[in-house]
Amino acid sequence: MKTGLKIATIGGGSSYTPELIEGFIKYHSELPVREIWLVDIEEGKEKLEIVGNLAKRMVQKAGVSIEIHLTLDRKEALKSADFVTTQFRVGQLAARELDERIPLKHGVLGQETNGPGGLFKALRTIPVILEICREMEEFCPNAWLINFTNPAGMVTEAVLRYSNIDKVVGLCNVPIGMEMGVAKLLEVDHKKVRIDFAGLNHMVYGLDVFVDGVSVKDLVISLITDPDKSITMQNIHAMGWEPEFIRALAVFPCPYHNYYYKAGDMLEKELENFKEGGTRAEVVKKLEEELFELYKNPALAVKPPQLEMRGGAYYSDAAVRLIHSMYTDKRDIQAVNTMNNGAIASIPFDSAVEVSCIITKDGPKPIAMGDLPIQVRGLVNQMKSFERVAIDAAINGDYGTALLAMTINPLVPSDRIAKVILDEMLESHKKYLPQFH
Ligand code: G6P
Repeated sequence: MKTGLKIATIGGGSSYTPELIEGFIKYHSELPVREIWLVDIEEGKEKLEIVGNLAKRMVQKAGVSIEIHLTLDRKEALKSADFVTTQFRVGQLAARELDERIPLKHGVLGQETNGPGGLFKALRTIPVILEICREMEEFCPNAWLINFTNPAGMVTEAVLRYSNIDKVVGLCNVPIGMEMGVAKLLEVDHKKVRIDFAGLNHMVYGLDVFVDGVSVKDLVISLITDPDKSITMQNIHAMGWEPEFIRALAVFPCPYHNYYYKAGDMLEKELENFKEGGTRAEVVKKLEEELFELYKNPALAVKPPQLEMRGGAYYSDAAVRLIHSMYTDKRDIQAVNTMNNGAIASIPFDSAVEVSCIITKDGPKPIAMGDLPIQVRGLVNQMKSFERVAIDAAINGDYGTALLAMTINPLVPSDRIAKVILDEMLESHKKYLPQFH
């Protein structure tokens, strides 16, 4: 019998793959990965070759015995895998551009994960993830699915609700990014920082923030009123918070909350970018071209620092740290997307939530957080309603359900505008939405 773990990475041709490989190299002495199968689709073949060859050079340079396999055959990649990681984008960046541009044309933020753009990303992605789950049942029924594909919260909930796979964890770099941000802000080692996370993906709050077990929440909240001290990610333009507001909010918001508590300002900023010819999708497209040029260089055998311009910073740390803790039954605390099971009292029991968990060999065990404070409960539950209706639309392909999801999204101002955006997006994304026709 072969020893060591088999990892299958779906969307292996992604520019983020060097992040993941770097993580597996770093942890190799404690996490014996034997083989990594990078799998992609025909359209991603060229990128898969380029990034896959870089991955091979990376493991060779590091001197670790990890085999890298490149394939377009998903079933082959899944066969007897121990962990399946997903980082694919249905329709690639061209689809993201539409997710961001179409709503903006009608004066609405696209927000490609939780906004109208996120709705369409869910409609395109959920049928594919459910197909992957069916293949996992057949080819690797014991594997864990570690999903990084956005919208990560909705994808996790769809898997929990509509597939036979219950070994699924949804992963996002926002919680680790917030902890790293606090560490930097307070100039302490990030290992000393712990945040009690509760909420939904891209709508998570730090209910408390600790350094060495002592709460520093009030200090952090007062510091992030300064735009220069805002804790954010490369893809989100943070402007700092109104001091009285953030103090009254009394919990630590995540960078994505800029879209909800500063919707008007964020819209203005994105319209400015739009006029200059660039939504985030277009910026990322250029960045990707540069990255793939770098990746082609046969002398390159490490993750290039330019990758840090993407929003997915700490992705490798988050993904590999999680797999490591599951493999070793480490029982440390990490925030992931998993079934609520009552951990957050004000969110339905059977919903996916993003919450601090104890990570065990049997998966994440959510830590009881009690009720969300009343001032944030409404927004979180509105987002959860949107997510649930969006998932139903992804599954049933029903126009009315999709219109309902679009209209109840907190970024959409009316049913009329929702319909205009929905119609245009359904038409533009037709190729990836077979369930609607
Ligand atoms: C953050 C989010 C990810 C998202 C990324 C976008 O890291 O947590 O979910 O995919 O930003 O970054 P990008 O560079 O593609 O705009």
